[in-house]
Amino acid sequence: MVDFSKEKIIDILYDDSQNDWLFSLADKTRKKYVGNEVHLRGLIEFSNICKCQCKYCGLRSPNKSIERYRIKPEDIVSFAQKAVNMGYKTVVLQSGEDEYYSSDVMCDIIEKIKENDVAVTLSIGERSFDDYKSFKEAGADRYLIRIETTDRELYKQMHPNMDFNNRLRCLSDLKTLGYEVGTGCLVGLPNQTIESLADDILFFKEINADMVGIGPFIAHQETPLKDVPNGNFILALKVMALTRIILKDINIPATTAMETLNPNGRIIALQSGANVVMPNVTTTEYRAKYEIYPNKICINENPEQCRGCIEGKIKSIGRTIAETKGFRGNR
Ligand code: 5AD
Ligand code: FES
Repeated sequence: MVDFSKEKIIDILYDDSQNDWLFSLADKTRKKYVGNEVHLRGLIEFSNICKCQCKYCGLRSPNKSIERYRIKPEDIVSFAQKAVNMGYKTVVLQSGEDEYYSSDVMCDIIEKIKENDVAVTLSIGERSFDDYKSFKEAGADRYLIRIETTDRELYKQMHPNMDFNNRLRCLSDLKTLGYEVGTGCLVGLPNQTIESLADDILFFKEINADMVGIGPFIAHQETPLKDVPNGNFILALKVMALTRIILKDINIPATTAMETLNPNGRIIALQSGANVVMPNVTTTEYRAKYEIYPNKICINENPEQCRGCIEGKIKSIGRTIAETKGFRGNR
């Protein structure tokens, strides 16, 4: 058994000569703890309106060059129903931090979607304890909110008008309320250290995250970070592989950002610790506008094409598509 102290994690992250060993250990760990099934989550990007100003994100409120949209609550429900009909066992409702979707509006959407036999994951940012409680009572099962970085100073630089402690409060409230909680980080932010990436991994373990999404930073031209080089694909993959080895039975998505930097990125991720993919089920008209970062994949495809594409890729590496809702522990 290898000891994964912070020092060991840092050594592995610095040393690329052990990468083959690392990826293969992560793949074995994935197989042992979560098996060969890949869980598909249908992603609905329902609003690109955001009150935040995250320095890296194309949806930040000061970006006036993107066309903003909000999908009507009844259309969100019908997209979700379509996803269920296509075989998805989970739908993920994701948006910018958009106050139009009040607690009442969200609860109504969640309740209607939960009339189907499907798990509902929310990814709509920082809200109050009471909002999170209402969403849970309406039927939401999971919540994704990345810590982005555990380096408090870097967090402050990247997130004007936000508070790291409030982010922690959100994660803790969600756990208290009984959600399955997903978090994660960006890899390749300016001034981000290898040491802080090791802290990120240990943080995921400390809060007992049920899901961890890791993606490389990709520079967006309409943000203050436009001239910062993109994150490194291999380093992001290493952070993901270490997360699998250390947290063992959690769900780990092969993120879309990985595939933006490497044409085979999601499959490589699935063979280096990941067991989840989140295909886009939003109709094509909205996709290009949800430009968190440039060159996002699947911009011109429709939900059926993405489903077919990803199923083919998953089967081509000898893995199967799960028929269960895919809670942690494969329930
Ligand atoms: N590059 C890569 N990932 C990004 N995200 C936001 N902006 C970028 C970017 N420029 C990620 C954040 C957020 C998730 C929805 O998208 O980590 O939590
Ligand atoms: Fe969308 Fe491959 S998953 S085209």
